[in-house]
Amino acid sequence: METRNSRLFSLLEGKVDAVAIINGGDSQIDHNFKYFTRARSGVFEGSTALIGPKNTAVVTSVLEAPALKGLGVRVSVPKTRKQLEKTLVTLFSKHKTIGLNFPSVSYESFRALKKAYRGKIVDVSEEIAKCRSVKDGDEIKKIAESCRIASMAAEKIPGMLTEGMTESQLAARLSMALYEEGSEGPSFSPIVSFGRTSAIPHYFPGKVKLKKGDFVLTDFGGKYDMYCSDITRTCIFGKATERQRELYETVKSSQEAALKLIKAGAREVDVDAAARKVIDGSSFKGRFIHGLGHGLGLQVHDGRPVLSPRGTEVLKEGMVVTVEPGAYVDGYGGVRIEDDVVVTRNGYRQLTTAKRELIEV
Ligand code: GLY
Ligand code: MN
Repeated sequence: METRNSRLFSLLEGKVDAVAIINGGDSQIDHNFKYFTRARSGVFEGSTALIGPKNTAVVTSVLEAPALKGLGVRVSVPKTRKQLEKTLVTLFSKHKTIGLNFPSVSYESFRALKKAYRGKIVDVSEEIAKCRSVKDGDEIKKIAESCRIASMAAEKIPGMLTEGMTESQLAARLSMALYEEGSEGPSFSPIVSFGRTSAIPHYFPGKVKLKKGDFVLTDFGGKYDMYCSDITRTCIFGKATERQRELYETVKSSQEAALKLIKAGAREVDVDAAARKVIDGSSFKGRFIHGLGHGLGLQVHDGRPVLSPRGTEVLKEGMVVTVEPGAYVDGYGGVRIEDDVVVTRNGYRQLTTAKRELIEV
């Protein structure tokens, strides 16, 4: 039976004997640790997982060990710093070549490893990213549930809006709706912007108050069993002006053009170009200032695929990707519509289901 370990080692084609996932402090937690161990909770600061083709060994603290029970992972819990170093050296020195996920290893951890380990160290981040990019059935189920939760919360947004409320208040209500629908928490800090601030794609909600005629842009997601969703809806608080409607419909058509191309074998760059062509062929030319979409999984930006002009790969069956065109007019406002889809042999299955038609509240 194919496991995540065996899939990784078949991609590695004998390049290394084992792969080490090394977590540092809070800012250096590698999501691959949970991907390979399948731990469903825990922080695992300062913990290491050594992945082999058939098994996984973890060195961690007594605090985190219970989260690994029953997962078929060999767990060591050294009591002192000295014991920890000894355990790691013993584990590592069984292997001539060790692979690391270079982008996530801190310089400090790398230096310590170089000092203690005499074998060869190789970057295997490409193979890990490839392994993660195609989701297995279990992952797709979790992402689908996460998307269901986010869609339910999105449907509630129009009913949450009241004149004079602040962006932060809407963000709070949105987060509550996610928890109420069964999420374990937001996938990322929600983006909520009113009126002019909707022209800033990665805006942080603040004290801006909602007024009649404003765009209301909400970009958020809720995790389910560690897996993320990511959805954006833009509505109008009041009756849309002609220009607001034109902007909305342009972005919606752009998304539809991209969705038409999505299927296994489609080139990332072509899917992006189809969406961009619609916006650049309108009066909002040049206002689509980011990529069309990104991979989605344990992380909200899960690395692959990359739907952007920089994309170099083709889509594969089982990849999960966001499709999120947007157009932004400084000082006026912006519209983004974002959905999550899983790529199939002949097309895609849409995981987010909230209504996409323009809503006037
Ligand atoms: N949801 C925010 C982003 O994809 O950048
Ligand atoms: Mn996104």
